[in-house]
Amino acid sequence: MQKVLLTGDRPSGQLHLGHYVGSLRNRITLQNSGEYDCFVMIADIQALTDNFKNPAAVRENVFEVACDYLAVGLDPQKTTLCIQSLIPALAELTMYYMNLVTVARLQRNPTVKTEIQSKDFGSGVPTGFLVYPISQAADITFCKAHVVPVGEDQLPMIEQTREIVRSFNSIYGEVLVEPEALIPTDENSRRLPGITGNDTKMSKSLNNGIYLADDADTLRAKVRQMYTDPGHLKVSDPGKIEGNTVFTYLDVFGTDTAQIAELKEQYQRGGLGDVKVKDYLFEVLDELLAPIRARRAEYAADPAQVYQILKQGTERANEVASATLSEVRAAMKIDYFS
Ligand code: TRP
Repeated sequence: MQKVLLTGDRPSGQLHLGHYVGSLRNRITLQNSGEYDCFVMIADIQALTDNFKNPAAVRENVFEVACDYLAVGLDPQKTTLCIQSLIPALAELTMYYMNLVTVARLQRNPTVKTEIQSKDFGSGVPTGFLVYPISQAADITFCKAHVVPVGEDQLPMIEQTREIVRSFNSIYGEVLVEPEALIPTDENSRRLPGITGNDTKMSKSLNNGIYLADDADTLRAKVRQMYTDPGHLKVSDPGKIEGNTVFTYLDVFGTDTAQIAELKEQYQRGGLGDVKVKDYLFEVLDELLAPIRARRAEYAADPAQVYQILKQGTERANEVASATLSEVRAAMKIDYFS
């Protein structure tokens, strides 16, 4: 039997190259490997836990993320794309799982802790936010996912899910599947720095991102702004490639390794200007992004098609969820009328 794979994102706006390198690219590979029954969930309920006052933004972000997914090559024939809030079984599972997790355990969750510190919750942490790891356990278990590809920051969520599964199965019987996290081994999936360099990751709040939706002129302008070696003033000066964002990107996105090695050598020796290297990087990125951008524009111009794809995926997710829920209810002896 094929293994079930589930992953997802809190929709927080358009996706950028950091997302592409960190997860999207890997999801496409996994999808196309044919080894898994793949689910990708747009976690809008989770997004609402810290954006409940901005429902319009969350709704917009769901659409943007869906366009990005389809543009990079998530294929609705192979991957079930679904919307969290339209799978009511998740809310029900979350409620049952809540009994299995202490408040103290949630407060100790490292990811939740860091997020609470970085967000301004003012008068206090909403209950919905504190319990989102339990809701995430419902996301992962509704389809009995074996594998969850995630970044390191999500490991505490997978661990939390595993604890819930073990607890559930030991109390009610073996119904749920204990998932494994799948951390990409590709070293290029490490965090991509933003265009301003300085070890900051690409993120919306830092305004240092290159987005899949960026047009060619925007891309060129962003590449031109990229952080290089501040000591490399004249073309003839020797330049540093360590910490030089342009070369970091070439290592990640470039395919012509001989050419890149040559550029590095020239740059370090002196005699190669930043603009030349940047123009080369632009070509490399544009080759990757041009087809993605074109597909994205088609989807963005046809919301009905995008929503139809999401609707079909969500329908399938609901069928799978109902089957799991029946087993859960039977195991918990609350299947009164069946
Ligand atoms: N917590 C994830 C994030 O912040 C999103 C998410 C929700 C998720 N449900 C999931 C990830 C299930 C993997 C599996 O992006």
